[in-house]
Amino acid sequence: MARIIGGIGTTHVPSIGKAIAEKKYQDPYWKPFFSGFDYVHGWLAREKPDVAVVFYNDHGLNFFLDKLPTFAVGAAGEYRNEDEGWGIPVSRSVAGDPDFSWHIINTLVADEFDITMCQDMLVDHAVTIPLGLMWPGESWPVKIVPIEVNTVQHPLPSLKRCLALGRAVGRAIEAYPRDLKVMVIGTGGLSHQLDGERAGFVNKEFDQLCMDKLIGEPDELARYSVHKFIELAGAQGIEFLNWMAMRGALTGRVAQVHRNYHIPISNTAAATVVLENKPLAGLKAA
Ligand code: DHB
Ligand code: FE
Repeated sequence: MARIIGGIGTTHVPSIGKAIAEKKYQDPYWKPFFSGFDYVHGWLAREKPDVAVVFYNDHGLNFFLDKLPTFAVGAAGEYRNEDEGWGIPVSRSVAGDPDFSWHIINTLVADEFDITMCQDMLVDHAVTIPLGLMWPGESWPVKIVPIEVNTVQHPLPSLKRCLALGRAVGRAIEAYPRDLKVMVIGTGGLSHQLDGERAGFVNKEFDQLCMDKLIGEPDELARYSVHKFIELAGAQGIEFLNWMAMRGALTGRVAQVHRNYHIPISNTAAATVVLENKPLAGLKAA
């Protein structure tokens, strides 16, 4: 059966792509951020996931304001990246796992999540930057199932709904009969606002609270309304919806094994968190 080994939450700021291309790992501006991935590299080398389920928000590359699904699941054999207008290099394509995607889609719809299914899907920086951070300078050794969450055009799904979506995805993964090691990724955040009067807004205290509660009390975070969350985290800080879904998919005993937090990367409070997921059955046996 498929097994969920853990989850990673990470920012997806596009300028990271340029910094990776220019190998600015030791640059004083970038080092405090990139060094937060040393632990991640070791963790991935030890755990060797086969597949990554990636909760992310599309920024106008694949979906635009005219047609914007609340939740969309990719079911393609390959996901291409294209020029998104941020001046960053177009990345390599990412391999998909259509059989696993269809299993998740079937299970979600049976579970009454009315998702959009995409047999053709472009992925933007919200997928490719996290992959480039996790596996720099080599081919990406995982297949992905991308799951888009609308964090862009109101009405947005609630934090509660995204947590429930993640939980349904977690149940689907565990019901998959192939022997796969699955990791879950939530991208974006943490606090940031790119436009309007509050452009540049970040909220360190609130970010710390979100990362703390995410470990063992995600249902408490789920009580925030979308509008209250945006007031506290900024208009794009609501990308945390992807982190909520990632956390929901961790169905076992969850422990935070790594956290890095740094202000600013571009306009964003940048965070990287690794959560391990141990089976509940293991707890009983111990
Ligand atoms: C930035 C952050 C984002 O989440 C994004 O999608 C684009 C840009 C930024 O801080 O520059
Ligand atoms: Fe974003």
